[in-house]
Amino acid sequence: MSFRAVSKEALVGSITLGVVFAAGYYLGKRKPFRMSISKSHGGGKEDPLLQYVLNNSMREHPSLKNLRMRTMEDSWNIMMVACEQSQFMANMAKLIKTKKALEIGVYTGYNTLSIALTLPDDGVIVACDISEEYTSIGKKFWKEAGVEKKIDLRIQPAVKTLDELLDAGQAETFDFVFIDADKTSYDTYYEKSLQLLRKGGIIAIDNVLWGGKVLSPSPDDADTVAIDKLNKKLHKDIRVSLSMLTVGDGLTLAIKI
Ligand SMILES: C[S@@+](CC[C@H](N)C(=O)[O-])C[C@H]1O[C@@H](n2cnc3c(N)ncnc32)[C@H](O)[C@@H]1O
Ligand SMILES: *[C@@H]1O[C@H](CO)[C@@H](O)[C@H](O)[C@H]1NC(C)=O
Repeated sequence: MSFRAVSKEALVGSITLGVVFAAGYYLGKRKPFRMSISKSHGGGKEDPLLQYVLNNSMREHPSLKNLRMRTMEDSWNIMMVACEQSQFMANMAKLIKTKKALEIGVYTGYNTLSIALTLPDDGVIVACDISEEYTSIGKKFWKEAGVEKKIDLRIQPAVKTLDELLDAGQAETFDFVFIDADKTSYDTYYEKSLQLLRKGGIIAIDNVLWGGKVLSPSPDDADTVAIDKLNKKLHKDIRVSLSMLTVGDGLTLAIKI
């Protein structure tokens, strides 16, 4: 498949740094922009403050932990969401009493499971990805956690799924959306998600700092250009209230007004 969520440098970085830390936490998508907490590339022994945060706040469901460990065996594991970010988003979803969620970019389904675990019995998360291979890694753990019935996995380009949901009259019915797939489609995902979202619902957008590259987007780097453009658009977007957080690789929260 042609999609690459991370730059080659980031991938090499993740290999050099390793992904297992003292407490066994895989930090995911850790990039060097987090100078306030991390003096070096992220994580573990080299980032004691972040390790402290993880040691004192992670409450990971056993199946989430098992899925994280399994994901670490995959060569694309840098794509996995940071675990503390996932826990934060699950708390946000819970706070606004999410019953209907949407995830654009599932990979092995760590965050999908994390959100599914917060949903009520009649809740659902529509999970969009194009990869049967990645998503099938997660299914076993969704089942193990007993929430597989709440996960509606759709293997096809996410834009197609979003259009189908809109055509099916599901505009203004979603509570929580997580955008985390191919970066050049981010603006399209945002616009369609905003239509699907109810007032007071949240769109969470991942990788908005893109390892710090947004500071100097090079014109031939389509991913960075797309992210920077959306960041600047959102700053002026009066349809939402906004926060940009330096968690993980940068997380924007847009709340529909
Ligand atoms: C960064 S990963 C998602 C990580 C995931 N949210 C997690 O919690 O670990 C990006 C995913 O987007 C998927 N993807 C790429 N292009 C896509 C498209 N056009 N439609 C749907 N999914 C796509 C990739 O297959 C990959 O699994
Ligand atoms: C985090 O926990 C691990 C495992 O218990 C321990 O080795 C490490 O020193 C702790 N680090 C911090 C900063 O709390």
